[in-house]
Amino acid sequence: MRRPILAANWKMHKTTGEAEAFVAAFLPRVKDAAADVVIAPPFTALERTGRALAGSDVALAAQNVHAEEKGAFTGEVAPGMLVDLGCRFAIVGHSERRTLFGESDAVVAAKAAALFAAGITPIVCVGESLEEREAGRTPEVVGAQLDGSLAKVPRERAAEVVVAYEPIWAIGTGRTATPEMAQEVHAFARGRLRERFGAAADAIRIQYGGSVKPDNAGELMAQPDIDGALVGGASLDPEAFSRIVNFESVHAGKR
Ligand code: PGA
Repeated sequence: MRRPILAANWKMHKTTGEAEAFVAAFLPRVKDAAADVVIAPPFTALERTGRALAGSDVALAAQNVHAEEKGAFTGEVAPGMLVDLGCRFAIVGHSERRTLFGESDAVVAAKAAALFAAGITPIVCVGESLEEREAGRTPEVVGAQLDGSLAKVPRERAAEVVVAYEPIWAIGTGRTATPEMAQEVHAFARGRLRERFGAAADAIRIQYGGSVKPDNAGELMAQPDIDGALVGGASLDPEAFSRIVNFESVHAGKR
């Protein structure tokens, strides 16, 4: 059985004060979750958000990381620095990193490996563009991203990795994949993970992301291979994100 995982990706939103106000409003609304709940603030709000979450079951995550342990990398943040702040997860390979900041699968693979080495669980994002989907290339694109981005995940640790399938055309557009469309890609992705990691693929959690809202989260997460969500816009509001986290289908868990 896979324990669902719901993650808030705040992107470049919220000051430290806004992050604390979110946590104060969010924690009392979260039921005793049978799911992992994760919040990824911007780097600048990690420490204060971590302090505000202390003693709760909600985990702290970073939105990015650098693959090296230390050195002359102006503007970058090392895995050990995230450990120091109590991060348990970090998002890598988000499509905004790939398209706006030129991150390749090889860069994402190095980051994921560095996170594993530091004891942080990577949330590895993959997803096709609208053009690629319309050209019928979704399996090819997602398959290649999975192969490339997970190339350095040690086989014996594969079950720990979290994958987020985020079709680019659904991110921030209000245009969600239908549950059937998402399930189709999730099932494909799990098959690909099975080729690489064998039976561990059945333990790997695959989140869906792209315009997840309280009113579509339940039907998405009811799909057999959708094990949670990576939520952008709707995660900025404590009420909306708590409604996503509290869904019965999430609490029922996955087979
Ligand atoms: P969205 O973003 O929920 O605003 O579409 C999701 C994401 O990019 O992780």
